[in-house]
Amino acid sequence: MSTAPSARSGGPSSGSGFLRDCLVCPDHASPLEPPSGHDPASGMPWPDGEIRCSEGCVFPVEQGIPRFVERDNYAAAFGLQWRRFRRTQLDSHTGVPLSQRRLERCLGMTLDELRGKKVLEVGSGAGRFTELLVAHCDSVVSADLSDAVDANLENCMDISPYLLVQADLRKPPFRANTFDVVICLGVIQHTPDPEQTIATLAAELRPGGRLVIDHYAYRADRFGALLAFFSVHTPLRWIAKRLSPVAGLRLTSAYHRISDPIRRRTCRYKQLDRLVARIFATSCYYETIPELPPEICREWNELDTHDSLTDWYQHKRKPEQIHATLERLGFVNIWCEKGHRGGNGIEAHAELGRGS
Ligand SMILES: C[S@@+](CC[C@H](N)C(=O)[O-])C[C@H]1O[C@@H](n2cnc3c(N)ncnc32)[C@H](O)[C@@H]1O
Ligand SMILES: [Zn+2]
Repeated sequence: MSTAPSARSGGPSSGSGFLRDCLVCPDHASPLEPPSGHDPASGMPWPDGEIRCSEGCVFPVEQGIPRFVERDNYAAAFGLQWRRFRRTQLDSHTGVPLSQRRLERCLGMTLDELRGKKVLEVGSGAGRFTELLVAHCDSVVSADLSDAVDANLENCMDISPYLLVQADLRKPPFRANTFDVVICLGVIQHTPDPEQTIATLAAELRPGGRLVIDHYAYRADRFGALLAFFSVHTPLRWIAKRLSPVAGLRLTSAYHRISDPIRRRTCRYKQLDRLVARIFATSCYYETIPELPPEICREWNELDTHDSLTDWYQHKRKPEQIHATLERLGFVNIWCEKGHRGGNGIEAHAELGRGS
C-alpha cells in the first residue's frame, strides 16, 4: 500500500524517452517540436512558449503546461472545482488508500504491475489517480480538458517526470495505437457522447492494450430514482450548472454549509435520512466512508455536492450497454461490473483484440 507517493526520483536522464515522442498535432498527427532547449523526458513543468507542428500549427505552453484547447469549455466548472479542492481526494492527503483501492480494482491488477507500461490517463482532474500512476510508472501521460491541469501539476510534478497537457479527449494530441493502458475514471458520463468517447479512447491503445473505464449507472430501485428526481437537487442543478463557475461554486458551497450539519446528524438513521435528503440533497459520506477523518469527509461532501450540481453532462448506462460497446469496438476479456463500494457505478476493463 502506498498512500504517500515518494519525492521526485527522476531527472532529465531518468525520464522516459517515450514522453519525448508521444505528442502529435491533434489536427495533422505530425510530430510536435517542444519549446527550444526543453527535453520532455525531464517532466513537468515545461518552459512557457510555443509548440509547433510541421504543418504550421502553433499551440501555447502556459503556466508550464502545453494547451491544445480554448480555456472556456463545457468543463470549466470542473477546472474551478479541482483548483478549489486540489488535495481533498488524494490518498497522500487523506491517509486512506481509497483512490488506490478503486484504481487497482478497475485496473484488474496492482499498481506495481504497471511498471514499464506506457500509460495514458484521460480526464485526470486534480490527480487522485495521477499521483499513484506517476509514483509507479515512468511513462505516464495525463490530460484534462479543464484548468484542473493546473491543480494536477502542483500535486504531481515533484513526484517523478510525467507529461501533462490540457486537451480534449475527443481530439487527442497523442500518437494513435500507442499506449499499453488507457485509464479514464470518473469522466465518460460527463462527456457529450459516451460511446464516441469510448471509441476515441480505444484508438489510443496498441492491439492487446488495456482500457480501464467507469460510468454512472441507472439506479436499480425505481422508487429511489423517483424520490431522487423529486428533490431539491433537480431544480438546483438546473440553475447551478447554468451559472458562471464562480457563482456556481458560491451557490453549492452555501447550500452545503446549511445542509451538511443536518445530514451529519440524520445520516445515522437511514429512513429518516432518505426523507431529509429530499431537501438537503448534498453528498454525505460520514456513514458510507467511515475511514475518512470527519474534517476531510466534510470537505469531500462539499466537493461532491459541487460536482453533482454543476457538471454539464450526466449520462447513465447499464452494464450490458457498456459491455456491448466494448464488444463492438473489438475488445476481448471484458470485465464489467456494477456496484462496487467507493466506485462510480459501472467499472470495466478489457483488452483490445489483436486484430482490431
Ligand atoms: C469528475 S472529474 C474526474 C477527475 C479524476 N479522474 C478523478 O476521478 O478525480 C471529470 C474530469 O473529466 C474532465 N473532462 C470532461 N470532459 C473531458 C474531455 N472531453 N476531455 C478531457 N477531459 C475531460 C473534466 O475536466 C474533469 O476534470
Ligand atoms: Zn498541425
